[in-house]
Formats: sequence, structure tokens, C-alpha cells
Amino acid sequence: MGTRSSILERLFLFLILLLRLPLFQARTLPSDTQALKAFKASVIPSSIPPSSCLASWNFAVDPCSLPRRTSFVCGLTCSPDSTRVTQITLDPAGYSGSLSPLISQLTQLTTLDLSDNSFSGQIPPSLSSLTTLQSLSLRSNSFSGSIPPSIINLKSLESLDLSHNSFSGSLPSAMASLAGLRRMDVSFNKLTGPLPKLLPPNLIELAMKGNSLSGSLNKFTFEKLNQLEVVELSENALAGKIEAWFFQLPSLQQVDLANNSFTGLETSRPVGGNSDLVAVNLGFNKIQGYAPANFAAYPVLSFLSLRYNSLRGRIPLEYSQSKSMRRLFLDGNFLIGKPPAGFFTGNGGAVLSGSLGDNCLQSCPANSQLCTPAQKPISVCKKVYRGRP
Ligand SMILES: *[C@@H]1O[C@H](CO)[C@@H](O)[C@H](O)[C@H]1NC(C)=O
Repeated sequence: MGTRSSILERLFLFLILLLRLPLFQARTLPSDTQALKAFKASVIPSSIPPSSCLASWNFAVDPCSLPRRTSFVCGLTCSPDSTRVTQITLDPAGYSGSLSPLISQLTQLTTLDLSDNSFSGQIPPSLSSLTTLQSLSLRSNSFSGSIPPSIINLKSLESLDLSHNSFSGSLPSAMASLAGLRRMDVSFNKLTGPLPKLLPPNLIELAMKGNSLSGSLNKFTFEKLNQLEVVELSENALAGKIEAWFFQLPSLQQVDLANNSFTGLETSRPVGGNSDLVAVNLGFNKIQGYAPANFAAYPVLSFLSLRYNSLRGRIPLEYSQSKSMRRLFLDGNFLIGKPPAGFFTGNGGAVLSGSLGDNCLQSCPANSQLCTPAQKPISVCKKVYRGRP
């Protein structure tokens, strides 16, 4: 009896083992495992801290097999059937090294996020075969070289963040074929040349701050961007005139074109009185002419900066009548006359902050915070206005 039950017991245990066995078998597609190995091998070992995600990538174990208690504890996500790698989201552990071209074998990858590390070298052109990739973030690394034109083959891409690297050269001209792209941030690189002729048509956010982009804002480039809400192009070398169509892009909310070399500004009232435009920053350019009264007709505009340009003439009375304006910066121009009294009497209940200082204004009440810093010396103003006023 005793032997029989122990035989049964053993058989039972054996069956259980047999059933559980597949959990311990390599199930990740071999080419995915190979890609992960190459990925880790391209990271400089001394830059992998002991308790980091990459330190737990131990290839004695299958990468996607569950449970992942001690190996592959973080940094990657696999498909529910544990056969394919779907996401690589590294921790900001200070990894350095390059991005292996074999990454292209992860053909089910939807997210690649290496942000806030010290990766360097170029983006391997093979990356473009990741046609399922929806989100690519290489933000805050030391990548260099040009953005490969083949990036336009990433047909599923919705979010692209290459900001805070050392990418150079001009932007790929055929970017518009990234039809699914909603967010694009290439800020703080060394990009040169003009904006692409066409931009991805479904963009919601476009950020290219802190590069050396030149040329002017071309209507053709922005024409189809009906969903564009945020445009951040400050700290570049953009020039020419900012035309009225720009502020009339139908979904526009926030515009930052500060610290460029724009010389002209043309505005019109919003179409049908409707606009979602909330913030416009045109400070630190070379804009000449009058401060445009039309901005006061934008119904929800609450922040306007035209500071440090070359504006002349009077401050439009309309600015003091706007119900939405909260912060107004007109300092550092050559504005003349008396500032509208409405600025100093509560502005219909609104509290306006900002500055009208460093202009050629007469009787800006010194006790108002709006009137600091002090106005320009009369001699400077006289020179600019050729003796008048
Ligand atoms: C813009 O330029 C001004 C003057 O050179 C500088 O003081 C300011 O910090 C710059 N702003 C940014 C955001 O770079």
C-alpha cells in the first residue's frame, strides 16, 4: 500500500513538473533575446549600477518568462504570451554607451524610452524598421549625428522626443509622412537649416527650442496642422515676419517664438471672434512697428510678451480693456505716451502683472509694479524718434 501511494505521489509530482516546465523554458523569440543581449552589450558595463534595471537583465534566464522576481525585473515589457518584447523603458541610472543596431529585430516594440541617461553615438538607421513603434524617447542623452531621414518609416509613431541631445544637421524634409505623430520635441540640440517644408499633419505639440534653426515661418509648412495646440520655437535664428495666419491656426493655444530674429509682426482679429490662444511669447526678437491691438481681441489670451523688441508708438488702449489678460510684458521697447489708465485701476477686477518698464513712456506711475524697471533716458528716446518726443 505504502509503495503504491508513493508511486502515485511521484507520478503526480512528475505530472505537475511536466505542466510547469514550459514556464521555465525559453519562450521569448530567439531574435528578440539576441537583440536584448546586443542592447545590453552596447552599454558600458561600468555605467550599469548594481541595483539598476539593466543589472537585472541576466540572460541565464529567458527575458520574457514569468515570474520575473530576480532577473529582468524592470526595463522591459513583453507581450501577454511572453514571446515578444513590446516595450523598453529604461530607468535613469546613468547608462552610457551606444544604441545597438540590432534593436531593429524587436519588430513588436511599441515603446523605446532611454531618457535621462548618457547614451551617445548616432541613431542606428536600422531603427526605422520598427514599424510598430509608437513612442520613441531619447530625451536627455548625448546622441549626436543627424536625425536619420529613414525615421519617416516609423509609420506608427505618435510621440517623438529627441530633446536635450547633440543632434545636428537639418530636419528630415519628408517628416510629413509621419501621419500619426502627435508630439514632437527636438528642443535643445544643434539642429540647423529651415523648418521642414511640411510638418506631420496631425501634430498637437511641436517643440524645437534651443537649436539654430533659420529661415522664416512659411504658411505652407503649417497650413494643414489643424490640431496644432503648442508651438515652441524659442531660442533659434528664425527671422522675417510673423504673419497673421499663424495666430489663426484653428487649435492654437500656446506660442513661444521668443529669442529669435523676427523683424515683423502682422496680426488680425480671430476668425469669428473664436480662438483658444492663451499664451503668446514673442520677447527678445527684433520686431519693429506698433504693438498690435488685435491681440486684445483674442478672447482667452492671458499671457502676452513682446518684451525686448523695437516697438514704437503707444500702448494700445485695447490691452487695458481685455477681460482675459493677466500677464503683459512690453518692457524693453520704445513705447511712448501715457500708459492706459485702466492698467492701474484694477482692469475690471483682473489683476494684471508684467512690465511696461524700459520704454519711453511718460508718467508711468512709479508706485505701480508694472512700471519697473525705470523708463529709458530721454536722450535714448530722442535719438530713436529723431528729436521727437
Ligand atoms: C533670451 O535672450 C535674453 C537676452 O539675450 C536672455 O537674457 C534670456 O535669458 C533669453 N531667454 C531664454 C529663454 O533663453
